[in-house]
Amino acid sequence: MTPRKLKDKFIEFFLSKNHQEIPSSSLVPENDPTTLFVSAGIQPLAPYFLGKKHPVGSRLVNVQKCVRTCDIDLVGDAFHHTFFEMLGNWSLGDYFKKEMIPWSFEFLTKELNINADHLYATCFAGDKDAPKDNVSANFWQKLGIPKKRIHFLPKKENWWGPAGTTGPCGPDSEMFVDISPNSPPIDFKKGCDSGRFREIWNDVFIQYLKNEKGKFEKLVQNNIDTGMGVERNIAILNSFTDHYLTVIWQPIIKKIEEISGEKYTTDNIRPMRIIADHLRSAVFIIADGMQPSNKEAGYVLRRLIRRAVRQAKLIGIENNFTEKIGQTVLNNQNNYAGIYPELNQNADLILATLENEENKFRKTLNKGLRQIQKMISSDKKITGKDAFDLYQNYGFPCEMTKEELEKHGLKFSSKEYKEFCSCNSDHQAKSRTLSVGKFKSGLADNSEIITKYHTTTHLLNSALRQVLGDHVWQAGSNITKERLRFDFVHQDKLTDKEKQQTEDLVNEKIKKALPVSCQTMNITDVKNNSSIVAIFGAKYPDKVTVYTIGNLKKSFSKEVCTGPHVKNTSELGSFCILKEESCGSGRRRIYAKLM
Ligand code: ALA
Repeated sequence: MTPRKLKDKFIEFFLSKNHQEIPSSSLVPENDPTTLFVSAGIQPLAPYFLGKKHPVGSRLVNVQKCVRTCDIDLVGDAFHHTFFEMLGNWSLGDYFKKEMIPWSFEFLTKELNINADHLYATCFAGDKDAPKDNVSANFWQKLGIPKKRIHFLPKKENWWGPAGTTGPCGPDSEMFVDISPNSPPIDFKKGCDSGRFREIWNDVFIQYLKNEKGKFEKLVQNNIDTGMGVERNIAILNSFTDHYLTVIWQPIIKKIEEISGEKYTTDNIRPMRIIADHLRSAVFIIADGMQPSNKEAGYVLRRLIRRAVRQAKLIGIENNFTEKIGQTVLNNQNNYAGIYPELNQNADLILATLENEENKFRKTLNKGLRQIQKMISSDKKITGKDAFDLYQNYGFPCEMTKEELEKHGLKFSSKEYKEFCSCNSDHQAKSRTLSVGKFKSGLADNSEIITKYHTTTHLLNSALRQVLGDHVWQAGSNITKERLRFDFVHQDKLTDKEKQQTEDLVNEKIKKALPVSCQTMNITDVKNNSSIVAIFGAKYPDKVTVYTIGNLKKSFSKEVCTGPHVKNTSELGSFCILKEESCGSGRRRIYAKLM
C-alpha cells in the first residue's frame, strides 16, 4: 500500500458516506494562542464542535498536515516524527458511535484488508468526568471482536484532547493490530509496549469542552473526530517496524546516505532519522509562511534546522546539505504532489531559507568553537554559566561544549550541566514575560489618516508582490498617524531599483484614482483563489470581507480584511518609502509615509 493509495482510499471511503473533503489547513494555527502548530485535524475545526455551522456541511474528511513539537526529543527512534500527515473524518453533531464504529471496522477490514482476527479495541474506562464507554465496546463486540480483545483504559490512554489547554475533547476508542499474530498470546499492555500491538486509528467522541478552570462541560451536540497517522499506517500495512524504511522516508534517507557516504546502519541510524524528520518538518513549516527566529514557532523551526545540521556533523557531513534534502522532500511527487500546492509555490523560498539558516548556524558554530578553544588554552574552567553564555551568544549547543571539552580530556560535570539548565530556564521565563502583549496591533483608531494608511498597506503589499515575486507575504503591520510599517517575507535586502519600482507602482495606482470596493465571500472560495491575499496564520470566519482595489475583474489588489478603507485611491496623496531594513531572518521591514 502506497501513501498515496491510502490517502485516496480514506477520502473516497468517506465521500461514499456523504462527507465533504476539506483542504488541510495551514500548520500555523489560526487564532489559537495556546499552541504553536496544528497538531491534529480537529484543531482548526474547534468552533464547529461547539455548535457553529460549518459552511460545507456536518460531515467532513481530509488529510491534515500536523506538527507535534512535544516529540522533538523523541525523534531518532523508529516511529516518532515531528511532522506527519493525519487522515481524519468528522461528524459535527451528525452521526455518532452507531455509524462510526462499523465504518471503522469496514474500512480496516474491507479497504485495508486487515484480518479482523488481528484487531483489538480499547474503550474509555470511565471516571468522575465521564462514564465507562460500554456503548462502544458493545458495537465492537457485535462486529465480531471478542471481549478478550477489548480493553477498558483510563483517561491517560483513552481520552483525547483538547489540543491546547482548553477546547473540545472526549473519550476515545482506539484500534490496534497484532503484527505477529502467529506468536504466542501476550498480555495487551505488554504487546503495546513491545510494539507487537500497534495503534492504527483513533475514534474520538467529542462530547466535552475543557474550560479555563480545567472542568469538562458537556457539549450541546455529540461529535466524532478520528485520526489515522499516514506514516504509521504505511509502516504497519507494509510490515515495517522502522517507519524510515517505508517509501515515505527512503528517498530522504538515501539522499543522506549519498551526501555523507555512510550507510543507514548502526550508529548512523539515529542521526539520519533526525535529519530526515527535522528537515521534512522544516520544509512544510516554511511552506506555510514561517521563518526561523528566536521566538515561538520560528524558534522551533530554527531548532529543527540547526539540530539537523548538528546531527549531520556526527555522520561526517561538513558542507551545506539542507537545501539538497529540502529538494528531495519537494521532489516526493508521488506522495505530496497535488495535495499541497504551497510546496511548489514556495519552493524557492523554502530552499533559500534552509540554506540561509544553515549558513548562519555554521558561522555561529565556528565562532563558538574559537571561543571555547580560547577558554581551554587559557586553562579557564568552563562552568555551566559559560556553556550558557556560549549558547546564548553564539547558539553553541551545550552538548557540543561537552564534546569539545571531552576531546581535550576535560569534563563537563552534571553539576555544570544543572547550572546550564537553570540559567536557560531563567532566560526562558524572562522571554516569556517579554512576549506578553506581542499581539498588540498598531491599528489604534479608525481616523481618516489611519484609514488612508490602511489602504496604502494593501497597495504596498501588492506592489511588493509584483516587483519582488509571489513569495512576498505580509508578516506584520503597524500604523501610526505619522507612518506605516510593513513587515514581509523576503530573503534579500531590496536594491535601490526595487525600492524605487515599488514606490512608483504605489504612486501610479494612487494617481489612477482606483475605486476601493468590498465584497463578502466564503473563506473556502477565498482559499481556492490565488489572486486574493490573506494573512498567514490569521483566523478567518467562514464568511469574510475582501477589499478590492481597482476593477473587480482586473484588480490591482484583493485582500481579506475587515477595513476600514478609503473609497478611492486618489484620496491618498503621494507615497514615499522612508526606510527598508531586516526584521529577522528572511523578513524585511518597510517604513513609509503619505504626504
Ligand atoms: N484528534 C485525534 C488524535 O489526534 C483523532 O488522535
